[in-house]
Amino acid sequence: MANNEKTAKFSLGDMELDLPILSPTAGPDVVDIRKLYSQGDVFTYDPGFTSTAACESAITFIDGDKGELLHRGYPIDQLADKSHYLEVCYLLIYGELPSSVQLKDFESLVTNHTMLHEQMIHFFRGFRRDVHPMAVMVGVVGAMSAFYHDSTDISDEHQREVASIRLIAKMPTIAAMAYKYTIGQPFVYPQNDLDYASNFLRMCFAVPAEDYVVNPILSRAMDRIFTLHADHEQNASTSTVRLASSSGANPFACIAAGIACLWGPAHGGANQACLEMLKEIGTPDRIPEFVARAKDKDDPFRLMGFGHRVYKNFDPRAKVMKQSADEVLELLGVENNPTLQVAKELERVALEDPYFAERKLYPNVDFYSGIILDAMGFPTSMFTPIFALARTVGWISQWKEMIADPTMKIGRPRQLYVGAPHRDYVNVENR
Ligand code: SDX
Repeated sequence: MANNEKTAKFSLGDMELDLPILSPTAGPDVVDIRKLYSQGDVFTYDPGFTSTAACESAITFIDGDKGELLHRGYPIDQLADKSHYLEVCYLLIYGELPSSVQLKDFESLVTNHTMLHEQMIHFFRGFRRDVHPMAVMVGVVGAMSAFYHDSTDISDEHQREVASIRLIAKMPTIAAMAYKYTIGQPFVYPQNDLDYASNFLRMCFAVPAEDYVVNPILSRAMDRIFTLHADHEQNASTSTVRLASSSGANPFACIAAGIACLWGPAHGGANQACLEMLKEIGTPDRIPEFVARAKDKDDPFRLMGFGHRVYKNFDPRAKVMKQSADEVLELLGVENNPTLQVAKELERVALEDPYFAERKLYPNVDFYSGIILDAMGFPTSMFTPIFALARTVGWISQWKEMIADPTMKIGRPRQLYVGAPHRDYVNVENR
């Protein structure tokens, strides 16, 4: 914990406290209020955690004003351009870019853990065929603790390592199986001679009736989408994983909790909601109608894929995603994709509108990702499972960082109680 002897004076009535100021590597200073209740007998109040640092972390940093995202100090646009997902996984988990030997060993470890316990297939068969794949992801990942019980003791560093590799390796297999199950096609087993992204595409789109040849354009785009979704500081799903893990729950249950949180349309579910919105808009001439709805306080409609709690400038991931959308659709011969045209025009109109400009609302990671996934052949229901697949390494990295912290305590927020004061029970005959 960075500490530079600066303090913040807190006074309430005749009570005065000097609260330590903690200075970070980057970003705003932090007022350490850990002793505020014990010494000052007051709580702070911050629903939604707009001004609260819930933990100390060295993994990812976001500068919302500059629109900058760093993973262990490396900018996301450089990683998206020069690195690849499994190398980014290594970086997020271990803190440094791997040597060629370390990378080769890590990739081999992941590749050789991609198969799922055969008996887990029965879990899939218990769902209706029209199940949303996210429901399958939550259920099957949570059930992994029943099959991989030898990597659930979080006090054992080796078991934490094994659980981490198993989750990163098996998420594509589980997501692909969830997809295959919903379309009534047989499961496709992973193939060890394929890279991570190619393996996922093949498990999703190959059928026994013919050979499947991975399109390198699509596998590169898929890998880049994984990288762009890998981690993002203390977002809602990561905070869910941290809070669940703080009780000592096993990693599979905690990642399942993260998947459940990510599913919401305000979070990871926005990529599905955004593409559905763009398709509902349909043509650029209908954009004003939807922009007006987004600005109308009496209408719950919001522009999906727009706005962010932290970014008050362009989401750097959206910039890379937009460029990738142009490249992929052109290479696939669908560059005049009507949905992409609507997205670009909607972005232009919104960014010129004072309502969005005043609130610093810009496209976020979910605004363009769905267009690429749609062009790759994924149904919208698979967009958030792909986000969950990619974010697993972020959840795992943050989980490992927290569990390894000797000062880690169970998370237990307090509240501003506004309910009934103390009162005595009244028998029913007297009510
Ligand atoms: C992700 O946290 C992360 O890092 C998440 C994520 C990650 O990688 O983990 O980046 C992934 O979840 C990206 C966000 C995906 N969600 C969406 O695209 C859904 C649409 N966006 C909004 O729901 C909203 O912008 C949030 C949820 C993303 C952020 O909400 P905040 O920070 O609580 O902001 P707010 O609701 O207080 O909005 C501030 C103002 C409000 O207007 P006023 O009350 O000031 O008049 O901006 C308005 C809001 O009504 N506003 C929008 C809007 N987003 C905010 N108005 C119209 N359309 C929108 N999209």
